[in-house]
This record gives sequence, structure tokens and C-alpha cells, in this order.
Amino acid sequence: MSFYVTTPIYYVNAAPHLGHAYTTIAADVMARHHRQRGEATFFLTGTDEHGEPVADAAHALGISPQELADRNAERFKALAPQIEASNDFFIRTTDPQHMAAVQQVLTRVRENGFVYQGTYEGWYCPRCADFKAENEIDEDLRCPIHHIELTREQEDSYFFKLSAFQERLEALFVEREDFVAPRSRYNEALSFIRSGLRDVPLTRHKLTWGVPVPWDEEHVFYVWFDALLSYYTALAYAPAPPTLDAEQASNLTKTFWPANYHLIGKDILRFHAVYWPALLMAAELELPEHIFVHGFLLMDGEKMSKSLGNVLDPFTVIERFGADALRFYLMRDVPLGQDGSVSTAAFEQRYETELANDLGNLASRTIAMISRYRGGTLVPGEVDPAVREDFLGLSERISECLDRAELTVALEEIWQRVRRLNRYVEEQAPWQLAKDEARAGDLDRVLRTLAEGIRTVTVLLWPYLPVSAERLLDALGAPGLSLARAALGSGGIEHVNPLEPLFPKDV
Ligand code: MSP
Repeated sequence: MSFYVTTPIYYVNAAPHLGHAYTTIAADVMARHHRQRGEATFFLTGTDEHGEPVADAAHALGISPQELADRNAERFKALAPQIEASNDFFIRTTDPQHMAAVQQVLTRVRENGFVYQGTYEGWYCPRCADFKAENEIDEDLRCPIHHIELTREQEDSYFFKLSAFQERLEALFVEREDFVAPRSRYNEALSFIRSGLRDVPLTRHKLTWGVPVPWDEEHVFYVWFDALLSYYTALAYAPAPPTLDAEQASNLTKTFWPANYHLIGKDILRFHAVYWPALLMAAELELPEHIFVHGFLLMDGEKMSKSLGNVLDPFTVIERFGADALRFYLMRDVPLGQDGSVSTAAFEQRYETELANDLGNLASRTIAMISRYRGGTLVPGEVDPAVREDFLGLSERISECLDRAELTVALEEIWQRVRRLNRYVEEQAPWQLAKDEARAGDLDRVLRTLAEGIRTVTVLLWPYLPVSAERLLDALGAPGLSLARAALGSGGIEHVNPLEPLFPKDV
């Protein structure tokens, strides 16, 4: 079994913001979960460095596009470890290996008869680096995403014969209803296809900042084709993750292609759900299994974006509360697949009531009681059957949810068990049991059940809260992270160690 997940590659015309962190965190949760299953896993993220938006931004700053790309790619690269993203590689589309591979694949597309020369005219948004269809143009000829004026562009182009894939794409969507999720996005993509596909420009004539077209040096490839191909080209030159066996490591493309999941935001649906499969068909490459489309993080009702100037800075949040708190908040409060408002108030609320109280206190109280009443040592034996019942099938259920990229649903399932354990403490009142020698056996069972319950939820929470989960499992003396360890009763906890507060309140 293998698992390959990607994020979009981020434009280097601006610095990273919370919207980028959101997608990367979601992909990371999936990658970590699959590693817990023992699957060969590859997680790719990176930067999209060519094209007009980058060239324009560099021009405005009076520097070369390469300088801007170098500067901002570093910032995106630095974001990954700060949000605890465990990506196996970071691709930059200015990597020479990527550029050569783009030329190869697109030459094959041309040899296969899907490229021709023509002239393109249309309304163009330089920020989207995209020509807009008639129904995508706001009144006043503005971009509905960036609210800037569209420009009328006309230029010589080589075209990609997207229209030749009309029937094959329709058939793909009928045969594979889970190709795009959620359903509303599947419907949106399918109706775009059904409305009739027109050929699209494959190259840009006026631009020089891009991958040169090998058969016509006056052109560079349109940035979207260069960018999409990164999902494929990366596997040809990325170093193999150390966990792979020799055969898997010897050919990452063979091991991981086609990708299992492309996670994307809703603004780039058409490129991924329509152009991308068509391009792969034209190049005779296998199609990805799933494209999962998430919504936007909103602030004050608008898409959070650098160009709109309404961004919450992930670095500030992390500095104060840590990466886990940010990861948890985003995965919990903005259901993957929908738009969701973010605010400092909502963040602090989740941090306090759920991380600090529900989980943090539960863990500290339990460890403190085991230390106080039993010198830190648990007596071996069965866990409470009532709690066991509520944990039955839990890890299977989490895997099912994550297989469908339902990250928020999975987290809610886990959190129900965290709450269950909190109720259990209150019901059993171990502090009362501790007063009665005759009930020593009951106290042992309650402490064991609590420690084991916490261990189980913590294994499942690791993809979401990697730093705190590892600290907590260490304190419980049971560091095993594999999914097989997420069965209640499999823990064998013998001795617990003191734990500093996981989510301190006075930060
Ligand atoms: N470079 C292209 C993607 C090429 S993929 C082959 C691009 N880059 S981007 O930097 O503009 O956006 C990258 C991702 O960040 C997109 O999925 C986009 O939806 C996401 N987000 C940007 N702002 C966002 C929010 N405010 N909220 C959530 N995600 C958003 O598009």
C-alpha cells in the first residue's frame, strides 16, 4: 500500500498566510495518518514560481523574478516546519529537473496531436494568471476573486486541445463519482465540462518568466501547465523518504504515481478537475484518485488574502500558542470542504475550552492522580467495559473518515471520546474511591481506564497535534504511534511520568 498527497504549490508573489497553512496542515494530517497505518507515504508541497503574477510583483519591487522567487520560496519552506508539516519534499518550479520534465511531458502532448498554433483573445486577470470565461466576469469587468479590472488580451499562442477531451472527461466523472469531492464541487466541475469545453492557451508569447517552449523559443509555457505538472515531476528527482524499502525507494514515480489526493482550494477547481485530467490523458499518464476541494478561510466575510490585506498571521499565532493549537483550531473550526470564518476570539475559545480544559486538564489530572494514589504505577488488568464499548471500532471509523478527507468529522469523533473520558472521571470520582481501602481495585481500574483511554485518543490525535501527542505519550510511557496502538487496551502502560501543562492558559 502507498499513499501520495499533495498541496497546491504556492505562488511566490506574496508571503505565506493562514490560507496556505490551512491546506498544508490538512495534507499533513492525512500524510501522518497514513504513515501510522504503516503505508509508504509521500507528502509534497512547494512553490509555483513562474508566470505573470510573480513577474509583476517582482517588477513592482524593482527586483528580478528569480530574486523574488528565492526570497519568498524560503519563507514558504520555513512555514512547513513551523506548522509541523512533515512534507517529504518541497518542489520549486524553478528547479531545473522540474523544468526539463515539463518540457518533456508537454512535447509528448504535442507529439500526440493535442497542440496547435492560434491567437487568443479574452478577458484576463493577471493575479489569477487566467483568462476568464464569460460567466466568470463581475460587473464592471472585474475579477470576482481579486476585484481588480480585467484586461483585454490578445496574443499568439499554442493551444491545448481541451475540447478533444469533452467525452472522456464526462465519462470519467460518470465512472468515478469520487474523483472530485465534496459533491457540490464535483457537480460544479461536471457542469463546467458539460457546458462545452473550449481549447485553452498552453503558452504565453509576451512573457519570458517561465519554462521555455522547446519547439518555439519565443514562448514560455502557461504557468498553470508548468505548475500542475509539479505533482508528477517531483517524484522523478525527490529524495526517497527514509522509511521506504529499497524497491519503493528506487523509483518514486512507480511507487507513488498516480497521486491519491490533491488537496486544493475552491478557486483552483477548474484547473485541477478539468485541465489536469485532460492534460494527463493527453500525455498518457494515469489520473489521480481524488481531488478534494476545501473552502476559504474568511475574515470579515471576505476571502483572507494578501492582496485584500486581511490576513491573520500564522507565525504570530504559533509563537504564542504553538503549532498544535493552530492546527487544531483550523481543522476543528473550519470544516474541510466549507468556507469558515476565522477570528482570534474563536481561536482563543477553542484553545481554552477544548485543548486546555478537555484534553490538557484530563491528562494532567489523570497523571497527577496516578502519581498521588499509586506512586505513578498502574496495576495491570482490564479496562472498564463501559468505556471499552464506547471506543469499539473507533480507529476504523477514523480511517474511513480520513480516506474521504473528512478531517473535521474524524476530529469530532475523537473529541467525543475525549469528552467521554471527562464524563468518566466525574462519574467515577476517583478521589472518593481513594478514600476507601475496600475499593482499591475499583480505583485501579478507573485509573487504568483513564490512562489507557487518553493513550488511545492521543494516538489518533497525533496527526492533528503531533507535538503535544508525543509529549503526552512519553509521559504515559507508551510512545507507540502506529494505528494498531489505537485500540483501547493495547497500551500496556506501567508507569507514568510527570507532565508539564500541554496547553498552558497564561500564554
Ligand atoms: N499557484 C497556484 C496553485 C497551483 S497548484 C498546481 C495558486 N497558488 S496560491 O498561492 O494562490 O493559492 C494556493 C492555495 O491556497 C489555493 O488552494 C488557495 O485556495 C489557497 N488559499 C489561498 N487563500 C485562501 C484562504 N483565504 N483560505 C483557504 N485557502 C486559500 O493558486
